[in-house]
Amino acid sequence: MSGYILWTFYAFFMQSRQTDLENWATALSESVADALEEKDMQRVQIIVRRYGAPANITLRVFDAQGSLLATSDPRTDRQITNWLLISGVSEALDGHSVQGVTKGVLSREDRLYIVKPMTRNGQMLGILRISITLEQFQKQFVRVIWTILAALGITILLCTLVSNRLARSLSKPIEVMRNFAIRVGRGQFDDKLVIRQSNELDQLATELNRMSERLKSLDNERRAFLANVSHELRTPVSNVQVTIDALERGAVDEPELRDRFFQTIKEETKRLSGLIHDLLDLGRLEAGVTLLEIQAIALESVISRAIRAMEVRMQAKNVTVEVDVADLRIMGDSERLLQAFLNLLDNAIKYSTPNARIFIAASGNKQQALISIRDQGSGIPETDLPRIFEQFYTTSRSSKNGVGLGLAIARRIIEAHGGSITASSKPGQGAVFTLSLPLES
Ligand SMILES: Nc1ncnc2c1ncn2[C@@H]1O[C@H](COP(=O)(O)OP(=O)(O)OP(=O)(O)O)[C@@H](O)[C@H]1O
Ligand SMILES: [Mg+2]
Repeated sequence: MSGYILWTFYAFFMQSRQTDLENWATALSESVADALEEKDMQRVQIIVRRYGAPANITLRVFDAQGSLLATSDPRTDRQITNWLLISGVSEALDGHSVQGVTKGVLSREDRLYIVKPMTRNGQMLGILRISITLEQFQKQFVRVIWTILAALGITILLCTLVSNRLARSLSKPIEVMRNFAIRVGRGQFDDKLVIRQSNELDQLATELNRMSERLKSLDNERRAFLANVSHELRTPVSNVQVTIDALERGAVDEPELRDRFFQTIKEETKRLSGLIHDLLDLGRLEAGVTLLEIQAIALESVISRAIRAMEVRMQAKNVTVEVDVADLRIMGDSERLLQAFLNLLDNAIKYSTPNARIFIAASGNKQQALISIRDQGSGIPETDLPRIFEQFYTTSRSSKNGVGLGLAIARRIIEAHGGSITASSKPGQGAVFTLSLPLES
């Protein structure tokens, strides 16, 4: 930019000087030609003296043969022997007007010059040469160059300072975030990033915080899950160990005790195998390994299979079930859905009082089948409702009845089908589980 400014400045100045020079030359050559035509050499001398100025402007008039008639700088010109060597003179004698920059006639300074032939009625009267010094201008131009260079230097300095500051203000929060990410990577989830900038970095910090929180809760879930699993596995195993110990220490010989202890071992190993089965199921569902064999199935057939499987348990507790299921076809994996319904029915029976009733109803709207399973049992406290679908979550009232995996498995199965499951309960009125499943389209 500086270069461009200097160049245009220079070009503009030279251009305007040249135009000026040309205008003077035209005007003066007319006056000189008049004088020459009248052979009035005195007037030629006067014009040349009046307009020439020793240091700045030199005016010369030559005759048609190229010998000097008048000059504004006689002292210098006395030393010149051959005028044809001076730039422009011989071209002008040939009838061409010439203009340009050249060195001074004897000095080394740059001068702008113009040479014009003067003709009247086709007859060459002589030539006029004007040259002006560029010294003044060049001095000024050097000053301009220095000014621009200084401005350039200051600009570069300021830009460096500003961009340095800017870069640092950008890199500081990035460094803070990097350290934060390193800490999160090491498993330290407790700090929070505070970046006070209202830009993308701020949003990035918010996202990093959210990520850290999510990782923290996943980490906690994982720890809790492991603790729960080992606890739940240890109980039946140690029960079996204790029983076997007792049998070894002599209980085998007492028939009544022996039968009871064998019964305990049987029950505990059954519980253990059920638990392992549930855990594996949950693991597979969670990891998305279980592939659903989705096909159109009759909802009614799945529900009646589940009821049939629970018949003995219901009879034992004298619980009856009332079914009001519309004739709907849903898209699903019948074995998996059966498992979900079994878990829900199991709860409904388990948490019902004897002689109670369970109601199963299903209806369809445009795209979904809505199924509700309602019991008349103890119900679920409002504070527990949001958490009962979590793994290993049991309410304080029912902690002896199960390990808390049934609903977690049911929810994952239903969600893998693209459906949803919710629970509601009013104090003392039992619980209602509501499911939605996609209808056959
Ligand atoms: N129909 C219901 N009535 C009252 N409480 C229920 C009912 N269904 C579930 N709950 C509560 O929700 C908790 C979680 O149920 P979930 O089926 O997941 O576990 P569980 O029945 O205790 O154990 P599991 O099903 O693994 O043997 C239960 O402990 C119970 O407190
Ligand atoms: Mg259950």
